[in-house]
Amino acid sequence: MYKSYYNLRRNPFEITPDPEFLFATKGHNEALAALYYGIRWRKGFVVLTGQVGTGKTLLLRCLLQLLKQSKDVAYAYLFNSRLCPTEFLQYIVRDLGMSSTAKTKGELLFDLCHFVVNRNEKNLTTLLIVDEAHHLSTEVLEEIRLLTNLETAQHKMLQIVLIGQPELDGKLDSAGMVQLKQRVAVRCHLKPLDCEETKGYIERRMQLVTASSDAAALFPMATVGAIHHYSGGIPRLINTICENALIAAYVKQLPAVTPNIIDAVAKDLRLEVCLEDSLPVAMPEEMDVQQAARILLDLYAALHKTPTRETQLHAPVSVRMSQA
Ligand SMILES: Nc1ncnc2c1ncn2[C@@H]1O[C@H](COP(=O)(O)OP(=O)(O)OP(=O)(O)O)[C@@H](O)[C@H]1O
Ligand SMILES: [Mg+2]
Repeated sequence: MYKSYYNLRRNPFEITPDPEFLFATKGHNEALAALYYGIRWRKGFVVLTGQVGTGKTLLLRCLLQLLKQSKDVAYAYLFNSRLCPTEFLQYIVRDLGMSSTAKTKGELLFDLCHFVVNRNEKNLTTLLIVDEAHHLSTEVLEEIRLLTNLETAQHKMLQIVLIGQPELDGKLDSAGMVQLKQRVAVRCHLKPLDCEETKGYIERRMQLVTASSDAAALFPMATVGAIHHYSGGIPRLINTICENALIAAYVKQLPAVTPNIIDAVAKDLRLEVCLEDSLPVAMPEEMDVQQAARILLDLYAALHKTPTRETQLHAPVSVRMSQA
């Protein structure tokens, strides 16, 4: 309903993580580069954390789009992390497309290791990604630790990416996890958006769904300030507030969303001001700034310059990965 009133092609604030809508903040860029860098240079074990709704799954989908463009990466993507060790291994084996008849944990491990070593000999990358990894049990984390032991003198044979809410950091920092923690080669953290980024975020989403040259006019700066205040810069909350605000503004037949509307929406949604997330973003130590910038430009071009998602998946990407 409000779409035709405001001349929008589609809903700008859907809450599904769609890579087409990526707004590349410095933090999201750095995290995406760190994940990509960690995998392509076979660093072994990479961890991404961030508060609920900060864009972790979206980044993961962007990463997968990039990785699908190179034919040398096979991955298992686990998003239900509430599994026992045997189910965990069964899932990986199946998702990697292995033709294994293994039943017991030992047999599964044997087949998996064989598969990973074989691929490594052909210089192919094998990747395990676990989203919602804060739910992983201690037993499964221990299996993951053992899998990180698959290595040559130069690099890890199995690349592992764990993504989760800040509790994951807590788990990895706990006394029983020292061995696993020491194996983390790259660790990064997504922070909520600041007010300026919130403005850019809303503008980008609006630009993507309207032909109007002044897409941002629907959300004037005072309104953006109120949105940032109530959302704490959490993208999922920004989406929910903006979606509800557009409906409310449409009902009142207003030409733009006012701060009063945001106050009312926040009241209805019972939103409290979120606390600023103060953990620093960690970049891999060896990564030099110019190199990071080059990689990001390529990543960004690959994500945004191709016309459709289908062509994005098949478009060539030229990411230069020379050692610093
Ligand atoms: N940088 C961004 N650019 C565009 N949209 C974003 C960005 N970051 C997050 N979003 C949007 O915010 C919403 C939440 O993102 P996502 O589901 O990736 O969060 P999450 O960190 O995985 O949350 P959870 O901890 O609940 O799994 C999605 O609609 C996503 O598209
Ligand atoms: Mg998620």
